[in-house]
Amino acid sequence: MPYSALSHLDCPRCGARHDADQVHGTCSCGSPLLARYDLDLVGVSPRDIAGRPPDLWRYHELLPVRAPGRVVSLGEGMTPLIALPRLGRALGVPNLLMKDEGLIPTGTFKARGAAVGISRAAELGVGSIAMPTNGNAGAAWSVYAARAGMRSLVVMPAAAPAITRAECVAAGAELYLVDGLIGDAGKLVAAAVARRPGYQDTSTLREPYRIEGKKTMGLEIAEQLGWRLPGVIVYPTGGGVGIIGIYKALRELLELGWVSGDLPRLVAVQAAGCAPIVRAFQAGAAASEPWKDPQTVAFGITVPNALGDFLILEALYATGGTAVAVTDEALLADQRTVARLEGSFICPEGAACVTAVRQLRESGWLSASDEVVVLNTGAGLIYPDTVPAEVPVLPPTGSIPVPDWGSG
Ligand SMILES: Cc1ncc(COP(=O)(O)O)c(C=O)c1O
Ligand SMILES: [Zn+2]
Repeated sequence: MPYSALSHLDCPRCGARHDADQVHGTCSCGSPLLARYDLDLVGVSPRDIAGRPPDLWRYHELLPVRAPGRVVSLGEGMTPLIALPRLGRALGVPNLLMKDEGLIPTGTFKARGAAVGISRAAELGVGSIAMPTNGNAGAAWSVYAARAGMRSLVVMPAAAPAITRAECVAAGAELYLVDGLIGDAGKLVAAAVARRPGYQDTSTLREPYRIEGKKTMGLEIAEQLGWRLPGVIVYPTGGGVGIIGIYKALRELLELGWVSGDLPRLVAVQAAGCAPIVRAFQAGAAASEPWKDPQTVAFGITVPNALGDFLILEALYATGGTAVAVTDEALLADQRTVARLEGSFICPEGAACVTAVRQLRESGWLSASDEVVVLNTGAGLIYPDTVPAEVPVLPPTGSIPVPDWGSG
């Protein structure tokens, strides 16, 4: 029984088949490539999986790393899937759950893509990686590259969360800031890679394995529900790797027979200030148009032009899902609501999902009986400035006022 059942890479646009044991970027037609598995070689059952260590490598047959010794891990995966009963009641969706990716190395779900992407790149002999990022992915890939003994070159917008810069520097990445957006960073990286033999461009969906790491969010949700699928999964969508990955994972599980029934309706959430997928979905289009002047505090989803737009839209249409835009004002208010009602300080991207649930319940798209999983893709701690904490400063001799809670 092989450690990985990886068989080949295929192109979801032109159908071309590629050798998975060579280093690949995109297909010659420009599309991202997807890893395919020989599911007949998966000789385990959910019962066997249950006895494995609690990290994402428990699904190694469905991951691309061929040799167990090549796994580069910091213990990522099996994040909590927690009930949000008070928030759920307040929103009119009592069966509300949150997959909390704040509790993972580097504090965001980007650790999943980095762990699998770096492990597979190292296994294929890549010694150096280069990538543009909105911050979180750069931080994650830098630390996993460090753990693998690889060089990393990272370019991020100057406006990306400052802590991600520190993380890249601490891990020894070669880091540049660009006075622009992620697309500008991508152009700088592409030009640099062309002049640096040995560097692989690991931009979003420009290599096939980051998505394999991210799909484990879908595998875990199914396992944590007892190999059952929820009615709806709500995901903050930038480049879309997470939502494409979850869709891919759930289809693989159906094909394996580990789950049955309808796929969850998938919901892509974007910020009102950068919502190319929402606009395309509303037009019934198969692809999106670039968004001009993107702007949002939910920095991770500031992606005006996603390479995998057609794959995101296909996942939404195929599952009877939808796409929702939310304002910064509303998502920031919900970031505090979640902390107040449930004690969880989530990132603005995660908060956007909560606002989306609120809106979808108000519009009637969600009903009170729906079981809904929202993805909190990272820790609120990465974005300390999203919650203004203006509180009284007392002199050491000062006194704390006694609240008037009313005596009767
Ligand atoms: C916290 C956070 N949430 C969501 C996203 C969007 O990720 P995806 O590429 O999977 O759409 C990002 C990407 O940077 C992110 O950092
Ligand atoms: Zn192709």
